[in-house]
Amino acid sequence: MKINTLSLSDFRNYHEESVEFGSGVNIICGDNAQGKTNILEAVHMFSMGKSNRTPRDSELIRHGCSGAEIFMEYTAFDRDCGLKIRLDRGKRKSILYNEIPLKKISELLGKFNAVYFGPELLGLVRNGPGGRRRNLDMVISQLRPNYFSAVSELRKIVDSKNALLKMQSPNKTMLEIMNKKLTDISSEIIVYRCEFAKRLMAEAREIQYDISGGREELSYRYMSSVGRISMEEIPTKQEIREMFMARLSKNEKRELEYHETLISPHREDVCFDINGKDARAFASQGQQKTVVLVEKLAEARLIKNETGETPLLLLDDIMSELDRKRQAFVLGNISGMQIIITCTDIDDMTEAITDDSNIVHIDNGSIV
Ligand SMILES: Nc1ncnc2c1ncn2[C@@H]1O[C@H](COP(=O)(O)OP(=O)(O)OP(=O)(O)O)[C@@H](O)[C@H]1O
Ligand SMILES: [Mg+2]
Repeated sequence: MKINTLSLSDFRNYHEESVEFGSGVNIICGDNAQGKTNILEAVHMFSMGKSNRTPRDSELIRHGCSGAEIFMEYTAFDRDCGLKIRLDRGKRKSILYNEIPLKKISELLGKFNAVYFGPELLGLVRNGPGGRRRNLDMVISQLRPNYFSAVSELRKIVDSKNALLKMQSPNKTMLEIMNKKLTDISSEIIVYRCEFAKRLMAEAREIQYDISGGREELSYRYMSSVGRISMEEIPTKQEIREMFMARLSKNEKRELEYHETLISPHREDVCFDINGKDARAFASQGQQKTVVLVEKLAEARLIKNETGETPLLLLDDIMSELDRKRQAFVLGNISGMQIIITCTDIDDMTEAITDDSNIVHIDNGSIV
């Protein structure tokens, strides 16, 4: 997968700007607050249909403007393609693939794959489960649009169930219907998550082994609302259904007491272990950073294995966060991939720069 050009109109701090990319390493360089991350955000939007920084599309429109547009020309599966996202205040966003409007975000997924790694992800191991869930959801969604639809459906069901649980005396039949829906969708989501976490783990384990000189064994643990699920022997969807129903009935009273859905994939977690110990509690800061780096490289490999195309790698100001050894490791693991790296100081990037690197300087929303 190769991005050729990106055009921005009234997106964030850009008025009208166009960026050309080379097929290898692209370095976006500029002082703070000039618009480097905004470029990565725009590119990443084509993989998920929404920003990785904000759920509010209106924030993406340049202050004082009524709408924004981003357009990307890229090559995927040996074909030249175009993707456009149009945002207008107060209107639904429109997404066009080769000029044809797409009806749903799920139709966009898989058309363009990217893996993003920025400083806000460095806390992925130690922060709350929400970030880890979102991260896993994002990878699976790019590979299985049906999964994305299932997660959207889950959100609606949980919202309705919560609304019901907030009532004085919730209608029993309604609650039963809701729980049936929740069981169906949850068993589907949990199986997807476990299977993909397992595949990611297989890639990550190898990478972690290399980066630690064979000293560290990385494993993933899926903490489901139905209990811990073994990665070695993932239960079938039917088995998870049964476990889920049992947990639901056991927690029925508690859910009524708390007025909230407690048993659901939206409260689950995927954790990391190093040499069998919880990385959240026991790994050093450096080890935790490494695990995230390994996870991102594993995601790129998994996408490559699944689709046959290497995803675009977006590294936001991350090299300065990594020591020389880890920097060298990243650079040794991304050959053949197109990457866009942002930095404030080009001198930090000497090891990443090759003869055919493309360097773009940004100043206050303009390419200079
Ligand atoms: N909707 C918007 N309209 C106009 N300007 C915006 C909008 N959203 C963000 N900005 C501006 O964009 C700039 C930040 O861009 P960005 O996050 O890409 O910076 P950066 O170059 O990555 O900086 P840093 O090196 O600090 O990470 C800020 O000055 C911010 O005020
Ligand atoms: Mg930035």
